[in-house]
Amino acid sequence: MRQNIVAGNWKMNKTLQEGVELANELNTILASKTLNCDVVIGVPATHITEVVKTVDGAKIGVAAQNCADQVSGAYTGEISASMVKSTGAEYVILGHSERREYYGETNATLKTKTDLALANGLTPIFCIGEVLEEREANKQNEVVKSQIEEALFHLSADEFAKIVLAYEPVWAIGTGKVASPEQAQEIHAYIRSIVADKFGAEVADNTSILYGGSCKPGNAKELFSNPDVDGGLIGGAALAAADFVGIIDAF
Ligand code: PGA
Repeated sequence: MRQNIVAGNWKMNKTLQEGVELANELNTILASKTLNCDVVIGVPATHITEVVKTVDGAKIGVAAQNCADQVSGAYTGEISASMVKSTGAEYVILGHSERREYYGETNATLKTKTDLALANGLTPIFCIGEVLEEREANKQNEVVKSQIEEALFHLSADEFAKIVLAYEPVWAIGTGKVASPEQAQEIHAYIRSIVADKFGAEVADNTSILYGGSCKPGNAKELFSNPDVDGGLIGGAALAAADFVGIIDAF
């Protein structure tokens, strides 16, 4: 059975001290709870080591928000998948729309990053999603299909089985506009069908597909109650423990 997952994406927010404080607060709240989903926090690279030390790894997994598309060497400022792994992080968010839009990441780059993440034992949380004009032109299915095909279809079924997908309509990220539960279910089911066609029904059934884009405590339950929505990738609402826990409690 596939896992339900609530993953936070802190983006470029919080100093190290603030981040450790938030991780600590979250850890304390979750310690007394029985969780019905996996919980992951995607923190800035500078914070990973300390956050890993702060949280109970049995309850909270830690993610990097990116890794390099090279193994090692003269790539000033980059952080490799093996470096990420060596911090104790278990996950890496790849292909977030902000990386695609502001840092020019293409499906080809993301294919390489995915390979490196998998080779280093990291679980990619792989983001896909259409921009507003594409949704308005009813092209969302085409867009997500090509994102998955170009970056992930070279994998074997065993490799693909290690990927978590996150569908994030770009028009819903940080905008307060949220996909309706029907819109989310429709495209999540479509995404699962693409995975089934390529990798088989069993792999598709076991793939966690998260929804991202203005997910909040007030709308999480309705979104997560859809059969093909297996949790969320949470930006803004992951920056305050009470909000993030409110979303975790939706399961
Ligand atoms: P948001 O961000 O929850 O602030 O919309 C989601 C994301 O970008 O992962």
